Formats: sequence, C-alpha cells, structure tokens
Amino acid sequence: MGNLSDLDRLYERIKRDHGRVDVVFANAGISETRTLDAIDEEHFERVFSANVKGMIFSVQKALPLMTDGGAVILAGSASGSKGFPALSVYNATKAAIRSLARTWTTDLKSRGIRVNVVSPGVIETPAMQTYLQRNAGMEDVLKQMTPLGRLGQAEDVANAVLFLASKESSFVAGVELFVDGGVMAV
Ligand SMILES: NC(=O)c1ccc[n+]([C@@H]2O[C@H](COP(=O)([O-])OP(=O)(O)OC[C@H]3O[C@@H](n4cnc5c(N)ncnc54)[C@H](OP(=O)(O)O)[C@@H]3O)[C@@H](O)[C@H]2O)c1
Repeated sequence: MGNLSDLDRLYERIKRDHGRVDVVFANAGISETRTLDAIDEEHFERVFSANVKGMIFSVQKALPLMTDGGAVILAGSASGSKGFPALSVYNATKAAIRSLARTWTTDLKSRGIRVNVVSPGVIETPAMQTYLQRNAGMEDVLKQMTPLGRLGQAEDVANAVLFLASKESSFVAGVELFVDGGVMAV
C-alpha cells in the first residue's frame, strides 16, 4: 500500500461503512531477488515503497479510527533476521518492519494499542507457488530445512494473526512471532 491516496480512500470507506477499526493486519508486501551489484534505484524504491512506506502509512492512517486497546499486526519475515542470498533490499525491509513494531509499541502505549510482528517462513501463497514453479527442486530443499518437514499454509499465518489480534494475547506486545515450522528456533 505505497499509494497514500488509495489508503485515504480505503479508510474513508471503512469510516463510512463501519465507523471504526479494531485490528490492523498490514500484510501487503512484495519480494524481488537482486544480487548486490544488480540493485538499482527503481528496485530499491519499489520494494521499500510497498513494504515499508506502505506499512507506515497503513498504520498511521488507521489510527484516528482505531479503538483504544486495539491491535496492530505487521507482516515481517524470517528473512529480516537472515542473510538469504540476493535479497538485500527485501531482507532490509523486513528488518525495518521488526524495528517499527518496537517503536510503535512505545508510541501507542497511551492508547493501549498492541503492536506485534508475525514473521512467516516458507508459506505456499501465490507468490511462493510462482517461485517454486520457476525453481525446480527448491520445494524439497525448503521442506528438508524445515523442522516440521512441510511448507506453511496461509491458514498457519492467519491463526497466528488471530492470536495476536485477540484478547488471548493481551499481555503480548512488541514481539516477533515466527510462523516457520521451527526454522528460526533450532
Ligand atoms: N509466502 C511466503 O513464504 C512469505 C514468507 C515471509 C513473508 N511473507 C510476507 O507475507 C506477506 C504476504 O506475502 P504473500 O506470499 O501472500 O505474497 P503474494 O501472494 O504476492 O500476495 C501479496 C499481496 O500483497 C498485495 N500487495 C503487494 N504490493 C502491494 C501494494 N503496493 N499495494 C497494495 N497491495 C499490495 C498483493 O496485491 P495484488 O495481488 O493486487 O498485487 C497481494 O494481495 C508479504 O508481506 C510477504 O513479504 C511471505
């Protein structure tokens, strides 16, 4: 959501139809591989705009509509803590997102709004399916490096987001919850 006028229209519509926002799950993001020597300004701006600028303004513009005590969940990635090859810019955006959750946890303290990050590992979404189709053999490699021995499904991430959005996580703030089949934990 790097386009700010789109965000304004979105929140105007939510205000008109629903009046308030209880939970923001800022999930939109793009990934593009580039080796360091091949990074150009357009690549940098495209990925940072979608992943970081979009996230900052998706949350900022929701705040006037947000109920005190609400929840913000940001889509990070295990990539933000790793050096996966040819992903400098993407990995850096996800590290930035992890940082935003720390600062916003303190910035939004007075309103009781909790901010957390959900960081997927390899999840079989449309973007990942395209990657796996283009890179024969990678599916088996990724399954083997995952302690739980499978790729994640969108439902695995959704369940973690539901937890962070709910009262069941009422004393959880500023964390990064990995949904990655154990990759980052072992
Ligand atoms: N899949 C994984 O293995 C994995 C792992 C770690 C982290 N993640 C993170 O999880 C999130 C979702 O990824 P995904 O795998 O579901 O990707 P995906 O299949 O490509 O879906 C991405 C979604 O984000 C939307 N989007 C992208 N750029 C946008 C923009 N500038 N403005 C508005 N919407 C935009 C897309 O909308 P359109 O369809 O309209 O383009 C699409 O609905 C991302 O933040 C990604 O970095 C995914």
